[in-house]
Amino acid sequence: MGKNFRALVIHELENGHFERLIENKNTDSLPQGELLISVHYSTLNYKDGLSAKGHKGITRCYPHTPGVDAAGIVEESQSKKFKVGDSVLVTGYDLGMNTSGGFAEYIRVPEKWVVKLPETLSLREAMIYGTAGFTAALSIYEIERHGIKPDMGKLLVTGATGGVGCLAVAMAANSGFHVIASTGKIQCKEFLKTIGAKEVIERNTVIDKSNKPLLPKRWIAAIDTVGGTTLSSIIRATDNRGVVTCMGLVESDKLETTVYPFILRGITLAGIDSAERPMDIRLKIWDDIAHRLRLKAPEYIVKEIGLENLSVEIDRILAAGQIGKVLVNLKK
Ligand SMILES: NC(=O)c1ccc[n+]([C@@H]2O[C@H](COP(=O)([O-])OP(=O)(O)OC[C@H]3O[C@@H](n4cnc5c(N)ncnc54)[C@H](OP(=O)(O)O)[C@@H]3O)[C@@H](O)[C@H]2O)c1
Repeated sequence: MGKNFRALVIHELENGHFERLIENKNTDSLPQGELLISVHYSTLNYKDGLSAKGHKGITRCYPHTPGVDAAGIVEESQSKKFKVGDSVLVTGYDLGMNTSGGFAEYIRVPEKWVVKLPETLSLREAMIYGTAGFTAALSIYEIERHGIKPDMGKLLVTGATGGVGCLAVAMAANSGFHVIASTGKIQCKEFLKTIGAKEVIERNTVIDKSNKPLLPKRWIAAIDTVGGTTLSSIIRATDNRGVVTCMGLVESDKLETTVYPFILRGITLAGIDSAERPMDIRLKIWDDIAHRLRLKAPEYIVKEIGLENLSVEIDRILAAGQIGKVLVNLKK
């Protein structure tokens, strides 16, 4: 006999619309997996918004509970690696996509998806980072792995007020980079400066529509969360042997480019796939987050809510209106 628990459930209606309800579920209905985890915190990502609005490229079958992130306590274990009472976190893999996700009081997952909570982090702090923080840290790892150092030039972050963006600004500043934050919300300039940006620029000033194959050099590295003409412009304005990380598509999933930035300036375009990174890299990135990239004042970027306020915040992230991170407290 399983346990009853509360969850956000998305239903597909006959008229093609999708409805969000908070419902009671039972742990017997959760998928197979070695670990039953009592979720204390989750956090909202753009991908969760897409799942909640019925994006079939993210979630094929409904009813479904989104939430690609979860942190909590192991309540049942059939694993040799984890025991009952362990504090753990899960980000990515299939959680919240086609596996019942973190917007619920319980998840059941395979042990190979699970990371032991780093000692310096609480469950709450781990979910202030979640997939967004992991993605930002992975971008910094890729930039540094290709030999880029803060004394070589500036680092651009696009979509800077968003979840990945604001954590990338703060973490890159913690790594010593001169960070340029690009935003469509120029009224958030002070917010971005407080979390570590040295310069804040209007989103449109990054975009170049001239079709010139190369542009004046403006940065040595860039973390791009938006794609489209923004990414195409960034690549052309990157200094010799610079690195651009690509992980998002809020502007567009299209990328037009010539080969010139690559063959004349030696630019590296590094793809970021946070959901599927192997466990050895995953542990290294979480160690970076827990130590050298850890934010001094994470509360500054956080809005904490309960399950009942999630629907409003989902609408806000889909309308590109979020500033910082939405933390979901499942014990509220
Ligand atoms: N590949 C991966 O592993 C991975 C992991 C996590 C996220 N992602 C992707 O990264 C992107 C950002 O995710 P997120 O959770 O940080 O989302 P988010 O919190 O909604 O942030 C996105 C930000 O992008 C900016 N933006 C919105 N619409 C835009 C437009 N039309 N043109 C240019 N900029 C726009 C806005 O910031 P400003 O107003 O400040 O410009 C917005 O706050 C998404 O596409 C998501 O799917 C990928």
